[in-house]
This record gives sequence, structure tokens and C-alpha cells, in this order.
Amino acid sequence: DEAELHARIRAAKETLGDRLVVLGHFYQRDEVVQHADFVGDSFQLANAALTRPDAEAIVFCGVHFMAETADILSGPDQHVVLPNLAAGCSMADMADEESVEAAWEELTDLLGTEPDADGRQPVVPVTYMNSSAALKAFCGRHGGIVCTSSNAATVLEWAFERGQRVLFFPDQHLGRNTAKAMGIGLDRMPMWDPARFLGGNSEQALQDAAVILWHGFCSVHRRFSVAQIERARREHPGVKVVVHPECPMPVVDAADAAGSTDFIQKFVAASSPGDVIAIGTEVNLVNRLAAEHPDRTIFCLDPVICPCSTMYRIHPGYLAWVLDGLVAGEVRNEIVVDAGVAAEARVALERMLAALP
Ligand code: 13P
Ligand code: SF4
Repeated sequence: DEAELHARIRAAKETLGDRLVVLGHFYQRDEVVQHADFVGDSFQLANAALTRPDAEAIVFCGVHFMAETADILSGPDQHVVLPNLAAGCSMADMADEESVEAAWEELTDLLGTEPDADGRQPVVPVTYMNSSAALKAFCGRHGGIVCTSSNAATVLEWAFERGQRVLFFPDQHLGRNTAKAMGIGLDRMPMWDPARFLGGNSEQALQDAAVILWHGFCSVHRRFSVAQIERARREHPGVKVVVHPECPMPVVDAADAAGSTDFIQKFVAASSPGDVIAIGTEVNLVNRLAAEHPDRTIFCLDPVICPCSTMYRIHPGYLAWVLDGLVAGEVRNEIVVDAGVAAEARVALERMLAALP
């Protein structure tokens, strides 16, 4: 039963002591978060992996691309474990290496590879953290960089110092919302159209582009709508609306604030007793914030429960199983990124870390 599972997890953690660190993303269910040594957004958890070079095992309660990133940044003797290997991310899967390589080839055919008079390349690739290690490696190889939702604007500024245009993948919404907030017009953000279904990729549009957007999206965040925000404002005059930048642009525009999961958490922490806050992000985080602040009214904009189904695949039963394995000297569900891929991906990740203030 549940109580026995939690006791097993606690006992294994006690036995492993400092040899183990358990990381948990904000979207994990409470039954998992209660066992995490660090809880944070994807950027904070990548950093947390760096702060524990002494730990033999990093158990990552999150999704596959996060565990890959931890493996890339961690030491060669550290093991990174994903309790359930089926915990992927549908957005990350929307940009496969082959399609991005094909787009890159077409773009460089059209735009060339020669830098302009200011030394800026025709295109700089920028990948959202929510992508495979292979795509981070692609960015490392081609003068590109990684961003997270907490630093996308800073990273885009870095990219525009080095490039005339940016190819941004996989999340069209984060790309569009960030570029728009930087003052870039929608007419300079064409969407890459791999199959030409939409008649896109006109040469002129690509020549004039500032940001070429990939067509990916998060299936959790794209459910949020302007109608939900209007309803929240109608039913709760004075409500403050905060959403994640993976939401569609009209939703971000209609909200009072937008930012990463850590931003949302800090937005709530900075509010006052009695405040009413409607949140557009994954429901496990929203419910936890509501429980932590019983003196405020905090609710999810989407009345239908919207968990991230892949984050939810990390059940305490899997956590107990991988920890029991470690106690027995067996590394279960290890995530190992190929050394060559990891070396190139690390270049793009380190550019991100160096670009930050
Ligand atoms: P952050 O943790 O960077 O806000 O990202 C949200 C997300 O979708 C993680 O998968
Ligand atoms: Fe991927 Fe969206 Fe889930 Fe984040 S919330 S892991 S982007 S599907």
C-alpha cells in the first residue's frame, strides 16, 4: 500500500545518504515531491545536478529530456536515473533530429553560411530545454544555444548578437511570446513548414524573418484560452492571472503576467492574503500552491483537470523500485547520453549558462 511504499522510499534514502540526490520538477505529484531533495523548474534542476558532484546517483523525478540534461552536465562517474522510462515529453518529440537537420540544410541553401559585415551568421539555432540531447548537440555544432522558459529573452538577445535570424524549436509559443515581448513583429516570425502543407517557407518571408518558429507545442498549455481568462475575471473581479509562456500568445497577452514555473511560484509567494489568483499551468503545481496558501484563493484556469500525463508517469512505486535497486548496488533505468552527443550538447548548455547575468 501507499504507506508502505513511502516507508520503503524513506528507508532507502536513509541508507544511501549523501550518495544519492533526488530531484523533482514542480509538476510532479505531491506523493513524489515529498521525497525530493530539490524541487524546481527545469533550469533550477539542471543547476541542482551540478551542485552535487559528490552524489553517485541522481534520481530525476521529471521527464526524459531533463534526465538527459542532468547526465550531460553531471560527472562521468555519476549515474542519472529516470524512475519510469516512459516519462517523455510530447513537445520534445515534435522536433526530431532528422527534420531539424533537413530544415537547416534548406535554410543554409537559401540564406548561405557567410556572416554579414557585423560578423553575424545567417541563422543561429536555439533549442528550448524541452528537446532531445541530439538537438542540443545540433545547436552546439552550429553556433547555437539552449534556453529555458526562465531565460528565453536573455538567450534570444545572445543569439541576435551572433545571428541575423534565429531558428527556434520545438515550442512555437515560447518562441513567439518571447520574441513579441522583445518588440519583434509577428510578420517577422514565420513558422517553418516542413511539408509545405501551408504553402509556407516563402523565400522572402525567410529572408525577412527575425525568428523562424518550429511547429511544436505543449499539449497541456495549449488548452488554456482567453475565454477562461475572461470568465475568471467575470467571476472574480480583481483576480490576478498568471500563465506559463508555453501558452498560446493571445492567452499570454490576456494574462497579467507570464513566466516559468519558478516565476509562477514566486508570483504567488509575493501575493497577499485574500488575493485571488488564477493560474495557467500544470494542475499539480497549481494545487500545491493552493494548499500552501490557504489564506488566498488559487485555482487553475482550466476547469477540466489538466495534468501533464507524462510527468504523472513517475509514480512513487517506480521511485521505490529504482531506490531499492541502488541499495542493492544495481542501477535501474539509467539514462546515458552518448559521449559524442553529450560533448556537443554541453557546448550549447554552457553557452546558456555563460549568457546569463
Ligand atoms: P519550466 O520548468 O522551465 O517552467 O518548464 C515547464 C515545463 O513544461 C517543463 O516540462
Ligand atoms: Fe512536455 Fe508540456 Fe509535459 Fe512540460 S508540461 S513535460 S512541455 S508535455
